[in-house]
This record gives sequence, C-alpha cells and structure tokens, in this order.
Amino acid sequence: MLDQAQRLRQLAASNENSGKARIITVTSGKGGVGKSNFVVNLAITLQMLGKKVLIFDADVGMGNDDVLMGFLPRFNIFDVIFNNKEIEDVVITGPYGVKLLPGGTGISKIDELTDEQREGFIRKLEKLSEFDYILMDTGAGINRSVLGFAACCEELIILTTPEPTSLTDAYSLLKAINHFKIKASAKVVVNRIMDEKEALLTYNRFNSAVSNFLR
Ligand SMILES: Nc1ncnc2c1ncn2[C@@H]1O[C@H](COP(=O)(O)OP(=O)(O)OP(=O)(O)O)[C@@H](O)[C@H]1O
Ligand SMILES: [Mg+2]
Repeated sequence: MLDQAQRLRQLAASNENSGKARIITVTSGKGGVGKSNFVVNLAITLQMLGKKVLIFDADVGMGNDDVLMGFLPRFNIFDVIFNNKEIEDVVITGPYGVKLLPGGTGISKIDELTDEQREGFIRKLEKLSEFDYILMDTGAGINRSVLGFAACCEELIILTTPEPTSLTDAYSLLKAINHFKIKASAKVVVNRIMDEKEALLTYNRFNSAVSNFLR
C-alpha cells in the first residue's frame, strides 16, 4: 500500500503544479469523532463557493458518506476494482452538485486487494481531472490503509474531539505518521466543542504534546 501511496503522492504533487484537484485526506485516531459529517459539510461548503468537489469514501467496505448524503448507491469502488467499471460510471451527484465515489458497505477491506487491483484503481483515479478538490474520508485508527491514504494527499487533516481518548488516539496516529515519515505536518480540527475557548485549549494541549514529544 505504501508503494502505491508513493505514486499517489507524485500524482498529488503533479496535480498541485498543474492546477488539478487538490487532494485532502481527513482522518482520526478514534472512530466516531465526526470525520464523515465534516467531509460532507466541507464538500458542500466548497461546492457552494463554486469549486468542483469529489468525495472519495476511503472507509472502504465500511463507508457511510452515501447514507449521510441520502443515497443508496448501486455501484461503489469495488465495481471499479473488480467489475471493470470506470470511476465516472460509479460516481453519484449529491447536494449542490457534490460528487461521491462510494466506498461500499459490508464488503471486505481494501487491504485484502492484490497489488495489481490497487494499481488499476490508482490509474483510474489518476485520470480524473475535472475536480478542484478530492476529499478522502478514511476509516479511523492506525492501519496500512489509513496510513496509505494519509500519504497520498497534499493536505492531511486530523480530526479529534476534546475527549481524552480521542486526543490520545490522535496523538498515536500522528506518532505513526511521523515514524513512517508519511507527512511532516498536519492540520487539526477539533470537533464537538462547546465554545471557541474549549477548542483553543484542546488544540494547545494537543499541539504542545506533539511539539514536545514528536518535534
Ligand atoms: N459537531 C457535532 N455535533 C453533534 N454531533 C456530531 C458532531 N459531529 C459529529 N456528530 C455525530 O457523531 C456521530 C459520528 O459522526 P461521523 O459518522 O461523522 O463520525 P466518523 O468519524 O466519520 O465515524 P467513523 O470513524 O465510524 O467513520 C454521528 O452521530 C454524528 O451525527
Ligand atoms: Mg466515517
């Protein structure tokens, strides 16, 4: 997966230079902190600002962005990989024209794919050129799939809540990202806060732990 992430990273870099889609990956240590809601809302906001946005539900096999957007899609990423469908045939159009590449539910994880199948999918992703942003909504936790998607973006957003368990899991995820030299920096979004003060307090605490221990 990390080899392919390298290729996606090159793709992201070349997209940056050519003015093609900017790839943003949204991830978290702990599950259920609000990634999917954040991604869908961010996509709608960008689309309302006149940008063209594709959400890739990278929580492959457990995705639910389709449900959040009120869809029951016929096809998903597995049809692209296994059934020779093109991404354009699988992508659906949601609120304000936001496009979604569904991750599929109740099917096996992308980790179980062969290298050849993953390569084929990445080649198809490489061909997409009409978007300003591709937002990747990953599953939670530290695994090859999440680290691979974190590696292939231009911008990484780590979502956390003020809950201690959410913060420690976010820290562990950043530690792994740092250890495998996947990214040198990440943006942090603090979700489920009462007010700005709580957000800043949470962020400052997290930032000081990261600065002290991960440099
Ligand atoms: N700011 C918020 N205020 C209130 N409820 C929220 C907020 N953000 C998320 N939620 C709720 O938290 C729950 C989890 O949200 P969501 O599915 O977006 O999390 P997730 O990080 O994508 O989860 P998973 O790790 O399972 O993919 C949902 O019920 C959602 O409505
Ligand atoms: Mg989710």
